[in-house]
Amino acid sequence: MKTRLFTILAAVVVLSMVVSACAPKAAPTPTKPPEEAKPIKIVVIGKSVHPYWSNVEKGTVAAAKDLGVEAIFFVPPKEDVAAQIQTMETYIAQGVTGIAIAPSDPNALEPVMKKAADAGIFVTTLDTPPIDGSVSLVYIGTNNYSAGKTAGEAMAKLLPGGGKVGIGRGSDTALNALQRTDGFLEGIKGTAIETLEPVNDKEDAATALQLANSVISANPNLAGAFGVYAYNGPAWATAIKEANAVGKIKLVSFDATTDIINGIKEGVIDATVAQREYDMGYKSVGIIKLMAEKGVDAALSEMGAVEGIIDTGVDVITAATLKDYEATLDKKGIPHEWDTAGWEPAKAVEPCALATEGPLAGVDPRGQAVVWWHQHSQMREEWLLEKAEEFNTTNECGITVVPEYQGSYNDIRDKMNAGIATGELPGLTVGYQNDQAFYALAGGLADMNLYIDDPKWGLTAEERADFYEAFLQQGVHPAFGGQRLGFPPNRSIEVLFYNQTWLEELGFDGPPTTPEEFREMACAAAAANADGTGGFIINTEASSLAAWTFAFGGDISNEDRTGYMYNGQATIDALTFLKGMSDDGCAYIFTEGYPDPEFAARRASFTDGSSSGIPYYFSDMETIGSTDVWGVTAIPHTTSDPVMNIYGGDIMIPATTPETQLAAWIFLQWFLSPELQAEWDKISGYFPTRASAAGLLTDYVDENPQWGQALALLPYGTYEPQLISYQSVRDAAVQAFNEILQGADIKTTLDALTKEANELQAELMEE
Ligand code: BGC
Repeated sequence: MKTRLFTILAAVVVLSMVVSACAPKAAPTPTKPPEEAKPIKIVVIGKSVHPYWSNVEKGTVAAAKDLGVEAIFFVPPKEDVAAQIQTMETYIAQGVTGIAIAPSDPNALEPVMKKAADAGIFVTTLDTPPIDGSVSLVYIGTNNYSAGKTAGEAMAKLLPGGGKVGIGRGSDTALNALQRTDGFLEGIKGTAIETLEPVNDKEDAATALQLANSVISANPNLAGAFGVYAYNGPAWATAIKEANAVGKIKLVSFDATTDIINGIKEGVIDATVAQREYDMGYKSVGIIKLMAEKGVDAALSEMGAVEGIIDTGVDVITAATLKDYEATLDKKGIPHEWDTAGWEPAKAVEPCALATEGPLAGVDPRGQAVVWWHQHSQMREEWLLEKAEEFNTTNECGITVVPEYQGSYNDIRDKMNAGIATGELPGLTVGYQNDQAFYALAGGLADMNLYIDDPKWGLTAEERADFYEAFLQQGVHPAFGGQRLGFPPNRSIEVLFYNQTWLEELGFDGPPTTPEEFREMACAAAAANADGTGGFIINTEASSLAAWTFAFGGDISNEDRTGYMYNGQATIDALTFLKGMSDDGCAYIFTEGYPDPEFAARRASFTDGSSSGIPYYFSDMETIGSTDVWGVTAIPHTTSDPVMNIYGGDIMIPATTPETQLAAWIFLQWFLSPELQAEWDKISGYFPTRASAAGLLTDYVDENPQWGQALALLPYGTYEPQLISYQSVRDAAVQAFNEILQGADIKTTLDALTKEANELQAELMEE
């Protein structure tokens, strides 16, 4: 056959949705060939207007030019099966040489493809395969199943701990979309990755973005996203950036258009499976030309088709391989708009790289399971489980934390003691400081200084400074050589509750700060009731005794915190003061239940107790329909600033293996982030242990003013003894407090208490 060079014609014809405009714009008429030679005219039909298809077009145009044939290129604006069929009809009628089509719905397209074949037109497919038994002579494109599997494997590497992964794609009928999805599922098989139902945007960019946004907001734990089509990677990338989740949601996409490469350069796309779409266009033109000239079989074998398929292959691109990929394209002469000039891949940080120096050098936390014994039930437990799941799916070390509710602190104490005896301990546990002392004495706890001070795994100076100093110190035990045996997740505060409305009625502006002011107000309220009520309800709990001692400038721990000092001047002064109020009828002990209903009913103007009681005060007020404004404030103090008794359990790391201990610490550090603390505080009503978490709670404070008042007292914290005997000593302290209020000599009683407490301490430490 005579060949001639014709003018190269290629046109992207965008069909509008208007039916009358559905036919492609007429392509410019080629130079008329000699009568005897029918010019070769090849039509390539793609799926949507997208840079991906522009690349196919570029390959098509280049082939037409190189091979001296006429080529026409067509794509509808978005997935549009009817437009593809209509375009086929148009070119069948024109009697073109061959049509290469990417069937958006292979079943729907097959009849018209058959019509073309019957009319003697060479029909081939590209990009997305035809149905089995199709008239398509060859499929030129990606092996979509295996490319999808490659994408799945890339995701599995990015999410060693598994997690939820969203899938966005542009078709539910095109085989390439279906095969890629199946391949992806194969690639993640055996991992803890869970995929969500794919969402379909029908190759519409705006819809793709909308869907990505809604999947992210409906799945706050989303760990990854898979973009099946060229639209999807950029759509997810935008959504992830808008959700501030770059790095948190891992993104694997398909294709290598400019926006996708930019996503890789920015670090929002972690990996992409680049197709060779330029080749698809080029080879489709080439093979049809060969078919026309040499026959189908010769063309297939010359172009290396295997069982009717020419696999164009893929390249997996990450930030690390982008420059190599670019070099390959340049070498092949494949054009691309992006370039990497001036860009360098971020220094690859190996996920969960081990410490190379310091005491934790080489300790490998990867893949560790950490069981966490805790005492939280109901909503709090639900929240913990949810957070553990989030950690498990996102942490780079593949650590799995399993929170296990174990009953009360007492139950946990029993289980811990049993566990220390058998060596079967959880990775994390909870308890008070005296529990820590018990476990430490039996060798059951890790010294957390090792972790918080570690140059690689520890807290930065800034993080450390963010924790309220007293709270961090409370876990450090002088009786155990300064070991850090616990870390504070939250705290409660011993506060003074006051009735503001009533105080104002009595002629006072606001709550007292000094003991004298306090006495004056309480006495005025008691005088108003004139029935023995109205003043301050004395709380004879051990924490209240400690709180009054602190407020009077003293301590109940001895100077080096290895023993007790209940007989310091501050305790004597505080008790003298309270006893005096009681003698004067301005304070009383209430033993028939909780003091809060008394407070609500104006049988007390003041009470003291834990900030965790705030919700009860609320409901008591509500129950009786009181409209009194009330608040919480510092215990009246003789010191210039308040000194507050702040308490609460800690989280501890039992002595297990270096690997589990490190894994437990990594979780703890994550769990105690300001954001999670703020969430936790809203659920539990507790107070945060770091200042930046307090900053995230302004909305909550607006809704809970009393909670906000207590929050402001956090910087003034100090703490009760961390001693092994403190549980029993507390009981002895309550007894002494009551005896004093009943008239026992203050100094003598406190001397005896101190002696008894120190003896008990010595005894327990010897065991
Ligand atoms: C697919 C095409 C699709 C394009 C744009 C590519 O990944 O192979 O079939 O039309 O993305 O959505």
